[in-house]
Amino acid sequence: MSVEIFDTVKGIIAEIEASQPANEEALEQFRLRYVGTKNVIKPLFGEIKNVPNELKKEFGQLLNTAKETAEAKYAALKEQLEGSSEDAGAQGLDLSAPGEPLSLGSRHPVAIVMNRIIRIFERIGFVVADEREIEDDWHNFTAMNTPEDHPARDMQDTFYLQDSLTMLLRTHTSSVQARVMTSQQPPIRIIAPGRVYRNETVSARSHCQFHQVEGLYVDENVSFADMKQTLLYFAREMFGPQVSIRLRPSYFPFTEPSAEMDVYLGTATEKDYRLTKGTGWLEIMGCGMVDPQVLDNCGIDSKKYSGFAFGMGIERQALRLYDIGDIRLFFENDVRFLRQFAAAY
Ligand code: PHE
Repeated sequence: MSVEIFDTVKGIIAEIEASQPANEEALEQFRLRYVGTKNVIKPLFGEIKNVPNELKKEFGQLLNTAKETAEAKYAALKEQLEGSSEDAGAQGLDLSAPGEPLSLGSRHPVAIVMNRIIRIFERIGFVVADEREIEDDWHNFTAMNTPEDHPARDMQDTFYLQDSLTMLLRTHTSSVQARVMTSQQPPIRIIAPGRVYRNETVSARSHCQFHQVEGLYVDENVSFADMKQTLLYFAREMFGPQVSIRLRPSYFPFTEPSAEMDVYLGTATEKDYRLTKGTGWLEIMGCGMVDPQVLDNCGIDSKKYSGFAFGMGIERQALRLYDIGDIRLFFENDVRFLRQFAAAY
């Protein structure tokens, strides 16, 4: 007798484990049979008294296992059924419907132009130097020959980090020159692309954030002619073999002599005359021979080495290349604008 009743309970446990109600109705049947107040396990507790003393404990444990198995299984089944009806049926989802196509994104026009510039310089041996946008005063200004009180700081006012008079958002990628020259000796041939900041009123032509690519070449016997030829090569790769360049004398604290470089693109293809003011000359960069003081500031022997540097804005070139009328479009991230560059690489 006692063996039979053990088998009965084991049979119930096996039944519970095997049952797989497919819908709520079947689940309710499961509940009534194994968990509800009139479940099939309950009356078996009354049989304990008929079980021989030495087996009572074991039988009691088996009944408890049956009860717990039923409750746990019911809870799991309930969650499973509710979950799946929430996921699909309840929301009226048709799981056999075809998926929605994911549209491919596109590169930002600023990134496209920046990558183009990088590739042109990489072909003649420049390597990319990637540096921080939050800079200290020394790398951004002092090392670049613009000490505190220097009037040139006014032309490049920027955003300072709260509670700090020395940490700021870099105003130009020239800070990378200082980073590189303090950590390695010539020959140095780098380009440094990245975002820069200025405390300026945002308008169609200027923004408080924009992008530059910096270039630096330091070695023995580097001359102004080397710079001019390098930049002419760049201009022709970038805008076409027919373009000419001109260097206008200019001033930067960290180069001597300094120049502004313009590229002649003509007016035939120009839609927005504000960029060249109708002259066909697009100003694209500042450049010059690295001031010996800057080399010395950074621990490079200015008696032995010389170099040239240049820094160009990306947005202005992108405006001209794609005939874009307003610089703010670059930072608004309106997909209707951005999508137009999907075909460019
Ligand atoms: N840093 C300068 C600017 O932001 C550009 C520049 C770089 C000029 C290197 C000369 C040499 O205007």
